[in-house]
Amino acid sequence: MAQAVSIKNLSVIFGKEKQKKEALELLDSHSPLDVRKKTGATVAVKNVDFEIEEGELFVIVGLSGSGKSSFIRTLNLLNRPATGTIEVGGRSLTEMSKDELREYRRNDVSMVFQHFGLLSHRTVLGNVEYPLEVQKVDKEERQERSMDAIKLVGLDGWEHHMPNQLSGGMRQRVGLARALTNDPELLLMDEPYSALDPLIRREMQNELLKLEDEMDRTIIFITHDMNEAFRMGDRIALLKDAELVQLGTPEEFFKNPANQYVKDFIADVDKTRILKVRNIMRKPTAVAKLGDSRETILETLKEKDMQFIYVTDDKRYFKGFITLEKLKKSKAKTIDNLVENDKTQIYRNDYLQDAWGKLSAATFDLPVVDGKGRLRGILNHDNVVDALAK
Ligand SMILES: Nc1ncnc2c1ncn2[C@@H]1O[C@H](COP(=O)(O)OP(=O)(O)OP(=O)(O)O)[C@@H](O)[C@H]1O
Ligand SMILES: [Mg+2]
Repeated sequence: MAQAVSIKNLSVIFGKEKQKKEALELLDSHSPLDVRKKTGATVAVKNVDFEIEEGELFVIVGLSGSGKSSFIRTLNLLNRPATGTIEVGGRSLTEMSKDELREYRRNDVSMVFQHFGLLSHRTVLGNVEYPLEVQKVDKEERQERSMDAIKLVGLDGWEHHMPNQLSGGMRQRVGLARALTNDPELLLMDEPYSALDPLIRREMQNELLKLEDEMDRTIIFITHDMNEAFRMGDRIALLKDAELVQLGTPEEFFKNPANQYVKDFIADVDKTRILKVRNIMRKPTAVAKLGDSRETILETLKEKDMQFIYVTDDKRYFKGFITLEKLKKSKAKTIDNLVENDKTQIYRNDYLQDAWGKLSAATFDLPVVDGKGRLRGILNHDNVVDALAK
């Protein structure tokens, strides 16, 4: 089961004990910068609240030094919060005993680090099985679970290679495999792809999205790249100087940026890579169903000035189209034998960038279907141009 995460009024402060105490007193009334000036302590996270849903891919974005790592490290208590509470699956982390915390780290949570964190003198398999070895899982089970994870990330056949024989992307996969051996319900990823080339990065993003789709876990993913944040995240939290600036879906960020800082932050985002077909598709003016009378549909087309109409069955599964001309010429009672099916359709979860080829080749409305092939809407090239111009 994936776990929900509830964070209330969380702050992280670094410094000597005395400085931290002073900082805590000034925390609510002063900015993090002022607190540092007055006390010497660093407020890395200030009074943050998040409710992360079970199974969500939650992204935290912000510039260097905004507190992203400090925050994510509280979720396995590598950092102890100065204020606030953290609940994972209903259990309070700060109230856990030593034993409970050890169990939690073993079984429920894993972290992937920005700089791979691989042991250079161990093979791929040796790296992946390392956490299991520390937990004294016996050799056979250790290797079996590690090989499962290695296969999952596409490194089958590379298990006996050393890290220095691998590319950056492959090393990052080793890091991911290592984090997956305990089948964590909560996966923490701290800028896992920042060191990768754009193409490999995109490939890794797609793979993670696919893994996420197939597996039942909550993922918290950190990046400083807004394009990556919007591409990956169900919801995104933007941090600035230790504080939360805005939290929402990609669409919400575009529609209602909280302030100028957010506007500037998203200014360079490539919308074709973030907006999906479903975000801008339209409802068809009319749809015909198998079994409908030819005359009724002919009337509909004339009335609404349409040259063709899309056809579904009574469960909305997409079947094809019929042209006005064909309806006029035919003497059939129903439309069933008049349906033509050219398979040009786009998927509602496609990014605009991926649907672009089909859209620019078509001079009319294309059908939009869901993963099961049900007609969900229509979209044409001009709609996309309009949406991007906004
Ligand atoms: N262990 C620590 N001791 C003292 N200060 C720290 C420690 N870790 C982080 N900080 C400070 O906390 C602030 C937030 O740092 P953090 O590493 O969380 O930022 P970040 O958003 O992850 O940045 P980056 O994108 O560069 O990784 C910084 O001012 C940093 O210097
Ligand atoms: Mg960091």
